[in-house]
Amino acid sequence: MTNILCIGAGYVGGSTMPILASHCPEHRVVLVDINEKRIAAWQSDQLPIYEPGLDEIVRQTRGKNLFFSTEVNRHIAEADIIFVSVNTPTKMFGKGAGKAADLQYWEKTARQILENSTSSKIVVEKSTLPVRTAEAMERILNSNSNGLHFDVLSNPEFLAEGTAVRDMQNPDRVLIGGRETESGQRAVEALVELYAKWVPRDRIITTNLWSSELSKLVANAFLAQRISSINAISALCEKTEADINEVAYAIGRDERIGRYFLRASVGFGGSCYKKDILNLVYLCEHYGLPEVARYWEQVVVMNEYQEARFASNMVASMFNTIAGKRIALFGAAFKANTNDTRESPALEVCRALLEERADVVITDPHALENARNDLGELAKRVTFEPDPYIAANNAHAIAILTEWSQYTQLDYERIYNSMVKPAFIFDGRNLLDHKKLYQMGFNVHPIGKPPLTRLTTNHRA
Ligand code: UDX
Ligand code: ADP
Repeated sequence: MTNILCIGAGYVGGSTMPILASHCPEHRVVLVDINEKRIAAWQSDQLPIYEPGLDEIVRQTRGKNLFFSTEVNRHIAEADIIFVSVNTPTKMFGKGAGKAADLQYWEKTARQILENSTSSKIVVEKSTLPVRTAEAMERILNSNSNGLHFDVLSNPEFLAEGTAVRDMQNPDRVLIGGRETESGQRAVEALVELYAKWVPRDRIITTNLWSSELSKLVANAFLAQRISSINAISALCEKTEADINEVAYAIGRDERIGRYFLRASVGFGGSCYKKDILNLVYLCEHYGLPEVARYWEQVVVMNEYQEARFASNMVASMFNTIAGKRIALFGAAFKANTNDTRESPALEVCRALLEERADVVITDPHALENARNDLGELAKRVTFEPDPYIAANNAHAIAILTEWSQYTQLDYERIYNSMVKPAFIFDGRNLLDHKKLYQMGFNVHPIGKPPLTRLTTNHRA
């Protein structure tokens, strides 16, 4: 039996470890976190993260070979393999503020591992980290004088929220980076063995440490770049007679381009893309590559433009004033099937509308609590309403900001009848049937297509 520990029971640790435990019943998996509330939630029926399919796996493994605890030190002492998935937010102070990763939680964890270890261990970086962090981790860990040896591996997480269970059960690839020393390679092999319980060997890629760390940043930068590219073209489509869906389909049929990740939207969100790209930008600057830095930075700039453009388009379409107007935001999560609101474009749009003094109502099936927390002081000026019909009642406009499938099933006739006229729908995800909405009487503003607007309010097409 191997004792596996994961430090940090957030989205990354919390969605990967239950699946690892389910495939490795002979090993013991413990998830620890300093956040007592979070651990209590993992032990309850109300898990702290909403991830389709995860509840079932937690129920099957919890108490058998999957355990949750706040006793970080004790479990470090017992562990053979330690995964580290603590948060590494963007640094908000000092050198690299706004771009570099804030490694304070991560370094604390490294020191904590050192202080509480009485045997040699494999330590696996799972948090996204700047390139060469593993080296710093190795130096801290191997600075001990009691003869312990730590092998540090990089095993970046590629799963996406909302599909985490499926992605972890059936990954495109698993990436494991390690030192090219004998003990480094033994450690790599030990981790390969764990994954090989359910992942075909040819999907397990092993590289050196730095390639693995950098590949994580580059994968996210490439994915985000595709979204910014299609979003840039959506702005051009809105000025012409072109339709972004048709353009995306036409170019995506070229196999060299591929059809995935070409959905134009109000912008990308989530905890990874912006953070990882800014990290990449910081690295390039650090290594004296300003042209490379500017190239990648533009992906983030374009995303901010897309969010701002969406909000200002709302204001412009509603006669240049939204002060005092009730506006219903459908969706707060950064994408469907998650309760995560980190970097959510919905909250960016919300902030912009509040600047214009709109009366904002947010509805979302799972993310209202996180939205309220993320908005901080501004939350006092927002109404949080789980029922979309109540949210839309008496509103001048609806903005679709998360592609929840529930929103395609609503009775929009009923919604239209309850709204102030002229009634507007701004579809930031191109989720709905725009022609049908227009026929009901709505003014419809999609992304990357000419708007369907009416001159009069009460005539029906
Ligand atoms: C991403 C990566 O996909 C994953 O591999 C990595 O481990 C973590 O970061 P995640 O942030 O969970 O995962 O979600 P993802 O599906 O990539 O979506 C990110 C954002 O891009 C969302 O706001 C989504 O709505 C948006 N998006 C995605 C688009 O606007 N258009 C698209 O075509 C795809
Ligand atoms: P991610 O999306 O990367 O998983 P989260 O913020 O959801 O990020 O999760 C990171 C978790 O790590 C949080 O629950 C936080 O409390 C936890 N954490 C941070 N520092 C430590 C530490 N020193 N020991 C244990 N847990 C920690």
